[in-house]
Amino acid sequence: MDAQLAQLFDFLRFPSISTDPSRRDDVSACGQWVYEKFVSMGLFAQVHGTPGHPVIFARSQPRPGRPTVLIYGHYDVQPADPLDLWTSPPFEPRLADGIIIARGAADNKGQIMTHILGVEAALAGGGELPVNVLFVVEGEEEIGSPNLGAFLAEHEEELRSDIVVISDSSMIGPGVPTLTYGLRGIGCIEVRVTGPAVDLHSGIYGGAVQNPITALSRILATLHHADGRIAVAGFYDTVAPLQEWERAAWRDLPLTETRLLEITGAPALTGEAGYSAIERMWARPTMELNGIGGGYQGEGTKTVIPHAAFAKITFRLVPDQKAGDAFALVGEHVRKNIPAGVQVEIIEGHRGDPYITNPLSGFGKAAQRALGNTFGREVALIREGGSIPIVQSFKEILGVDTLLLGLALPDCRAHSPNENFPVANFEAGIRLNQALLREIAAM
Ligand code: BES
Ligand code: MN
Repeated sequence: MDAQLAQLFDFLRFPSISTDPSRRDDVSACGQWVYEKFVSMGLFAQVHGTPGHPVIFARSQPRPGRPTVLIYGHYDVQPADPLDLWTSPPFEPRLADGIIIARGAADNKGQIMTHILGVEAALAGGGELPVNVLFVVEGEEEIGSPNLGAFLAEHEEELRSDIVVISDSSMIGPGVPTLTYGLRGIGCIEVRVTGPAVDLHSGIYGGAVQNPITALSRILATLHHADGRIAVAGFYDTVAPLQEWERAAWRDLPLTETRLLEITGAPALTGEAGYSAIERMWARPTMELNGIGGGYQGEGTKTVIPHAAFAKITFRLVPDQKAGDAFALVGEHVRKNIPAGVQVEIIEGHRGDPYITNPLSGFGKAAQRALGNTFGREVALIREGGSIPIVQSFKEILGVDTLLLGLALPDCRAHSPNENFPVANFEAGIRLNQALLREIAAM
């Protein structure tokens, strides 16, 4: 196997699942591996401990007068379950027909590794980088980057840069160079409904007390209108309309509704009337139920009125919505819809505001030149439905914009079994990094 790919495989073998407390040591071992990689490339590198998982920082030898590019990525991954749906163990990377399969292959280890190896290639044999490079590779992206904002604020001086570059998003299709100029924001809540003090016999007490699962279902059913529009009062008040040029550009993208049906395996695409599926995914807010629980989950029946039920909910936000306002509106909505006989607790989780930038800025055009030259095709300009909350913090804390040059394909199965990343994209990414740094230096 090629030496660069072998290094990615080493990186992928760490089960660096940031949300899982039992994986804490694996996460920090993975961060340590990134740190050692930077040191071996001759960069100045540091491991910054946080109350959670460490942030790995590295920089090239500063050369005054050259622009500074901050490359951000994450070495943590999502949990790998359900394990039985993987065709091979998630942390034993393998190659099948030129595709790398492993948890983290696309999100984000394969992608951040292209930047690391691009910089390494430029430095090889005493070479020089055309720009100053800073790396920030964190271990908490998948849990909402709870400690990265403080890291940025504390190290504002060292992190002073002209532009942030991130490859943690998608390419619109195989071989189609893609610049992402917008991401949705996110807010996470858990709704916990409690009723009787303990599980009760549902025959003996049914009819006399409220069932927490029924109450929760009633609450959840109020969140959407039948067509998928969010029914929370005021939720759309600050949603910026789509621009005509983007509606036109997105109509011609190679990601068709037929292809979306294939990728998702869903029997039909649904959602808000008046918008295409792409528009609904990239430029309209949504409210998703991510998990639900309560009562008996085992085989057969158990006749109980459960003591409690819960749902995990996330909403996605678009410009100009603010996560703080959305939490307030959703909280008020839930509290107004509580059936009698239960108590409801709303637990707020992490959040991030939406991001949008101008793809035709000087940096945007430099990125488009690098993408066009690397892939030899016209560049697709897209927004995406996923969230990288720290991008808005880079803007607010460091005052810098971000170029999002995604390399994962729409069917990369991020957060899902059999996550994958083509070797071709890995190799193109290494070239893209070098082309981009040259284009930025030439601006
Ligand atoms: N890389 C993704 C976000 C992403 C995916 C952006 C596809 C654009 C296209 C990132 O690692 C992620 O999954 N983020 C989480 C948010 C976080 C706060 C848990 C997400 O979007 O759910
Ligand atoms: Mn990611």
